[in-house]
Amino acid sequence: MSVMNILKSRRAVRNYEPKEVETEKITRLLEAAVWAPNDRLREPWHFYVIRGEAKTRYEQIAREFLEERFPTKPHLVKESIAVLESTPLVIVVTSDIIPGDEASSEDNEYAVACAIHSMWLAAQELGLGLVWRTRGIGLARDERLHKLIGSPENRKIVGSVFVGYPAADSPETKRTAIEDKTTWL
Ligand SMILES: Cc1cc2nc3c(=O)[nH]c(=O)nc-3n(C[C@H](O)[C@H](O)[C@H](O)COP(=O)(O)O)c2cc1C
Repeated sequence: MSVMNILKSRRAVRNYEPKEVETEKITRLLEAAVWAPNDRLREPWHFYVIRGEAKTRYEQIAREFLEERFPTKPHLVKESIAVLESTPLVIVVTSDIIPGDEASSEDNEYAVACAIHSMWLAAQELGLGLVWRTRGIGLARDERLHKLIGSPENRKIVGSVFVGYPAADSPETKRTAIEDKTTWL
């Protein structure tokens, strides 16, 4: 498939078969990630692979987070936890913060975003589905997730990557015409 076709056919996959992702495939995803461009080769990423007992702990903190956030919406909490429980694998991805150097810390985050996109495309080739989550059960801005992964202060969580074998076709998405998003100077 051409690069253009791969880019256009990539979708956010949120429903998975009840099947574990093989360690070999996880390694391939990580390998794809680390070949992303990154300023001055700082390689500013770290990957926390969450499955098994660690995933049970992730589910516990997600429940706490959701119950605090949506105290009047127990159905929403239940549905979100069901999504998490049916996700075979979560990879939390962090970006190195460089104290006193905001510009480089920002560039590090851009590099980590590229790395996650590379994983997303590689997942497709491996027959896997993936979605990058920050909100809700992504827990990217919740201190509890920081504690769970045991990450030092100088690493920022950029997202939680949910992975599994796709259970169904993902909905089509659209993009605005490039003419509306481009200024030719
Ligand atoms: C930085 C970032 C954060 C995202 N956070 C979430 C999220 O919290 N929950 C979710 O379901 N999808 C999340 N997504 C996936 C987008 O919703 C998805 O890419 C978008 O709906 C377009 O669908 P497509 O990727 O299939 O074209 C996120 C994507 C990015 C790049």
